[in-house]
Amino acid sequence: MGRSVLGGGDILSIRDFDREQLELVFDSAETMERNPEKFAGLAKDQLIALLFFEPSTRTYSSFQIAAQRLGCKTTGFANPAESSVSKGETLHDTVRMFEGYGARCMVIRHPMMGAPRFAAEITHVPIINAGDGSREHPTQAMLDMYTIRKSFVGIDGLRVGILGDLKYGRTASSLSYGLSNYDVEISFIAPEALQIRPEVEVFLRGKGAKFRRETNLRESIGGLDVLYVTRIQKERIPDATEYERLRGQYQVDLETLKEAKSSLKVMHPLPRVDEIASEVDSSGFAHYFVQAANALPIRMALLSMVLGVS
Ligand code: NCD
Repeated sequence: MGRSVLGGGDILSIRDFDREQLELVFDSAETMERNPEKFAGLAKDQLIALLFFEPSTRTYSSFQIAAQRLGCKTTGFANPAESSVSKGETLHDTVRMFEGYGARCMVIRHPMMGAPRFAAEITHVPIINAGDGSREHPTQAMLDMYTIRKSFVGIDGLRVGILGDLKYGRTASSLSYGLSNYDVEISFIAPEALQIRPEVEVFLRGKGAKFRRETNLRESIGGLDVLYVTRIQKERIPDATEYERLRGQYQVDLETLKEAKSSLKVMHPLPRVDEIASEVDSSGFAHYFVQAANALPIRMALLSMVLGVS
């Protein structure tokens, strides 16, 4: 386990957070969302390094905006192709360099599992994992859970369907780990080849979480409160033919949602490709843009905790 977030440490895995710590993060985000101007300048001029060794739009820019709202300055790169990483610079050297520049926190996304933990081992500067390979995306899971908590006034008692690429996706695993702190029922809905990884099931069993695997969305849609849709991780599927076989095996459109509860929230970490038809956007089910906006208060809360200014 990394240094605890509440003591100003790293955020490497959502498994390092218990229910009480998660609720603290959500409460802090809620306060910041209600009154953002009160927190402007909370961490004035502190330097945050955003080091994205894998492309990003939302995570990079929402961390940047959240940091700026706290009065921080940001540096780094959103695209490894445009940095010295493309010349072969290592993670080790990049981290040591930004440490020397005076970064007070480093937000790292990397295609290799465990890379943020490696970074945390070589620097005293707090590290936030912004996605490592297929493994984890803890801050995304927190904003997902914050969105659910706000929509339903609490998370306990809900039925959450997680649909799509549960094998190669990191948002599905992190969200499942986080939800295991609550009294929820999780349905993993995916073609067999993309079902949830054994290590996630082992963890959930250990926590006594209620979950099951399913293949047919139509059979379970009627009982769900939340449908969390994910993209097939094309870049992580080793075989292009396999990708073509799997894509299009599920698509959420208004027809699919016919049997859904009227209160169902359809969520997606984005980017979406063709998993959710655009006709869903204007329905009452669509919740993915609200979810994306919740990145700001959550990442403000997390940065202020890590910087020790909350
Ligand atoms: C996700 C990611 O990078 O894991 N996006 C995000 O951070 N919002 C999901 C994805 O790429 O499919």
